[in-house]
Amino acid sequence: METQQSQTIKFFGDETFPVEMHKVRIVQKLFLRPVEDRLKAINEAGYNTFLLNTKDVFLDMLTDSGTNAMSDNQVSSMLKADDAYAGSQSFYRMEKALQEVFGKKYILPVHQGRAAENVVSQVFIKKGDVIPMNYHFTTTKAHMELNGGKIFEIYTDEALKIKSDNPFKGNIDIDKLNALIEKYGADRVPFIRMEASTNLIGGQPFSIQNMRDVKAVADRHGIMMVLDASLIGENAWFIKQREPEFKNTSIKDILRLMCDFADIVYFSSRKVSSTRGGGICTNDHDLFLKMRDLVPLYEGFLTYGGMSVREIEAMAVGLEETTDETVINQSPSFIEYAVRELDKRNVPVITPAGALGCHIDAMSFLPHVPQQEYPAGALAAALYIISGCRGMERGTISSVRDENGDDILADMELLRLAFPRRVFTLSQTKFLIDRVHWLYKNRKLVGGLKFVEEPAVLRFFMGRLAPVNEWPDKLVAKFKEDFGNSL
Ligand code: F0G
Repeated sequence: METQQSQTIKFFGDETFPVEMHKVRIVQKLFLRPVEDRLKAINEAGYNTFLLNTKDVFLDMLTDSGTNAMSDNQVSSMLKADDAYAGSQSFYRMEKALQEVFGKKYILPVHQGRAAENVVSQVFIKKGDVIPMNYHFTTTKAHMELNGGKIFEIYTDEALKIKSDNPFKGNIDIDKLNALIEKYGADRVPFIRMEASTNLIGGQPFSIQNMRDVKAVADRHGIMMVLDASLIGENAWFIKQREPEFKNTSIKDILRLMCDFADIVYFSSRKVSSTRGGGICTNDHDLFLKMRDLVPLYEGFLTYGGMSVREIEAMAVGLEETTDETVINQSPSFIEYAVRELDKRNVPVITPAGALGCHIDAMSFLPHVPQQEYPAGALAAALYIISGCRGMERGTISSVRDENGDDILADMELLRLAFPRRVFTLSQTKFLIDRVHWLYKNRKLVGGLKFVEEPAVLRFFMGRLAPVNEWPDKLVAKFKEDFGNSL
């Protein structure tokens, strides 16, 4: 398989923009429904974009999970899948790809990323343990707490700043890490978790230097390091772009280096290799044996782990393609374009641009909506109504309540507009920018939300909300005034 190191494209004119390094050969029809239909759809979905039906969605920017475009090589690999409960050739091809790309010998397949979190948490976390990390992911935190652990986010002071030029906002603060281990004792720290392209703070990467520093602390105390590699390709791309020491290093070598620091690497294949599934890998046979028995119990036999063999084949190819710069830089370069254009229009977006999506700061977009009325959720609903574009709330709705039943207010209220790899075109991106800009100009019309149905666990998935007043009708009226019968 031929992979390509990217070379910068220079422009003759003043405008710079990303250029797709692929051609589109299979397409799916999209519909942009009239604004009244969109208002009806979001009402039926309880103002929760997770509950929308994609027949009502124009640009689905909810997530990149399981929605990245597959390559021709991935699709064709599925035809040679070897159907077998045990010992499938497809598994051995995937194992080889993982050994090659991540440099780990022992591989446990699981049905998706959170299944890996379940296995790792059950095996290594006991009641009273503390787990330091750059930042949590929703399912990570839920699994760790379910097993009696408490998570500590020891990010640097830059991490939560909306506007920043810090290239590595996903770094762990080494002083805070040392202080935490000193306070609780190394015996209570089963591992340190580092998440590549830290999802919930805007897809922000960490540096190799930070990994070195964390590893030195871990080694001094005999603590394991666990790497969440779901967005490792993009983090490697940012290292190449932003960490001068690695500007001439290949993505393949950067990926290997990142994995070398970790005792255990786990990932959601729904992100990293544009397929479904996930995996856990290690070079340590004892660690492998400790985790192995949970896989047949929760996932399936050790050579399929809840995945279909077709997905396993496509995963092997997808992992190899993660070493191709023109594959892994596609999403970050579109995000960078969207961030730059929105920033120019004064829309509050997280900078520097990160992985996964363009993140809008709902607290400064909607300063009149109190955090208790979920500004990020309200913004997600409002953008859907006026554009048909579906983003994801990453704020207090995605948080939990404390023991008194009060919301634990999220550190950040973000609307995430995901750019799944090689799915959207530049003109669709321009449409999105135009509509977000219009919404920003009319932001005073957007009001808050309140829960009407609230599940006890991971409430953001299935919870139903309602607007606190008639704001959606007023927003639609203004949209029609400005756009007439246009979609
Ligand atoms: N770790 C990270 C960093 C993730 O972003 C995700 C999923 C998971 C673990 C869990 O993996 O979904 O395969 O079970 N992130 C998706 C998202 C859901 O939309 O950001 P999973």
